[in-house]
Amino acid sequence: MIYIPLFYKRQDIIKTPQHIAIIMDGNGRWATQKGLPRIMGHKAGAETVEKIIEAALEFGIDYLTLYAFSCENWKRPKSEVDALMNYLKTYLTKANKEFNEKGIRLLAIGELELLPDKVAQRLSKTIESTKNNLNMTVVLALSYGSRQEIVRAAKSIAQEIKNGKIDIDNIDENTFGNYLYTSKIPDPDILIRTSYELRLSNFLLWQLSYAEFYFSKKMWPDFNKEDLGEIISDFQKRERRYGDV
Ligand code: IPE
Ligand code: IPE
Ligand code: MG
Repeated sequence: MIYIPLFYKRQDIIKTPQHIAIIMDGNGRWATQKGLPRIMGHKAGAETVEKIIEAALEFGIDYLTLYAFSCENWKRPKSEVDALMNYLKTYLTKANKEFNEKGIRLLAIGELELLPDKVAQRLSKTIESTKNNLNMTVVLALSYGSRQEIVRAAKSIAQEIKNGKIDIDNIDENTFGNYLYTSKIPDPDILIRTSYELRLSNFLLWQLSYAEFYFSKKMWPDFNKEDLGEIISDFQKRERRYGDV
């Protein structure tokens, strides 16, 4: 019999990543390559979201963060932004039922006040109705930008200092982290970006400090459970040293 000391968590033994973050990129190119309008790529991408959430749940992942819309994405043509917001609204309605059936909790990070009212309302509804679910947490990054998040945190901290609520000398990494959108979410273990663009595009700059990176050649609509499984298996072979020997 193998003796496993009780103080080891399940995650330490089989190295299941606790948190996977994904930059879901390549919807537009996927569609263009097929001679379709870009928005058809977003439609297909939304289907992949459903499949990957299900797969992550099966793989025993606790947190799945999906970069769905960046602060910079507001610069896109209005027709594309409108179509994306419509898919999001439809998706959130569907997710309300599915997440509750599967015991998934929804959270969102980003400048949510910039979302159209209808989308924001659906979002709060789904977040509220899934808040007690324990099987997995899905975090949607919407109207999200990491630099904006960091500036916002710095401003809040400055305000707290001004109000005498915190002392400059007591500010450390933990304090700072508490002012980010992700204060109650552990840092990602794995970052995946599809479409083989080798950049972060303003995603979780602080939180990804020690994540393992994976760049998939597939466009997001083609990414599947098997691809996710391969990444998790590879992650289990990696040695994370955190600066130690
Ligand atoms: C990712 O796909 C989805 C969003 C950014 C909203 P893109 O729309 O960026 O697709 P490509 O990168 O242009 O192919
Ligand atoms: C990053 O993809 C944002 C999302 C996937 C939501 P982009 O397509 O916007 O990034 P860039 O423009 O290629 O850097
Ligand atoms: Mg892109």
